[in-house]
Amino acid sequence: MNNITPENGILISETELKNRTAELGSTICRDYAGKNPLLIGILKGCIVFLSDLMREIDLPLDIDFMSVSSYGSSTVSNGCPDIRYDLHTNIRNRHVLIVEDIIDSGNTLFCLRQELLKRYPASLKICTLLDKPSRRTASIQPDYTGFVIDDYFIVGYGLDYNEKFRNQKFISIYSDPT
Ligand code: IMP
Ligand code: MG
Repeated sequence: MNNITPENGILISETELKNRTAELGSTICRDYAGKNPLLIGILKGCIVFLSDLMREIDLPLDIDFMSVSSYGSSTVSNGCPDIRYDLHTNIRNRHVLIVEDIIDSGNTLFCLRQELLKRYPASLKICTLLDKPSRRTASIQPDYTGFVIDDYFIVGYGLDYNEKFRNQKFISIYSDPT
């Protein structure tokens, strides 16, 4: 997998997103053949990626969502974000695939993974569209990664800056207009 560099402010184009999502979908489809996976999207950043990815997985599957307290907001004493919205699915004995927009420090997914493992899934894997490994502080490794990127703050395709840009069709580096 290649690290990518920005061109004209666009870090990842619509076409690149579409092609890579299709590749991930067919890999996941092959790996979960004969199974009925449960995709868990982590709100809100996951929504565009999840909705494209699930249509590239030609298997019976279920989806559910979780939401945790947002990036940089207050955390509880163990350093984990609060669960703001929990699953409505019993994951015991299910093949669970967490679908995330981006792994930065890795703290969110490290904590979520610990929490979900307490619920006895048959398997638990992580699919992230983007990975910023240079920022990692928690011990977490995704099973499926769309793109590895350098330490940029990026927006678009579900990712926000102050809740804006989630509807942008491509991924760009956020630059402060001031
Ligand atoms: P982590 O716990 O540090 O891995 O944080 C992951 C979460 O922070 C992601 O799910 C995003 O919601 C948010 N985040 C991290 N980096 C970026 C970025 O470059 N743009 C937008 N959101 C980001
Ligand atoms: Mg997120």
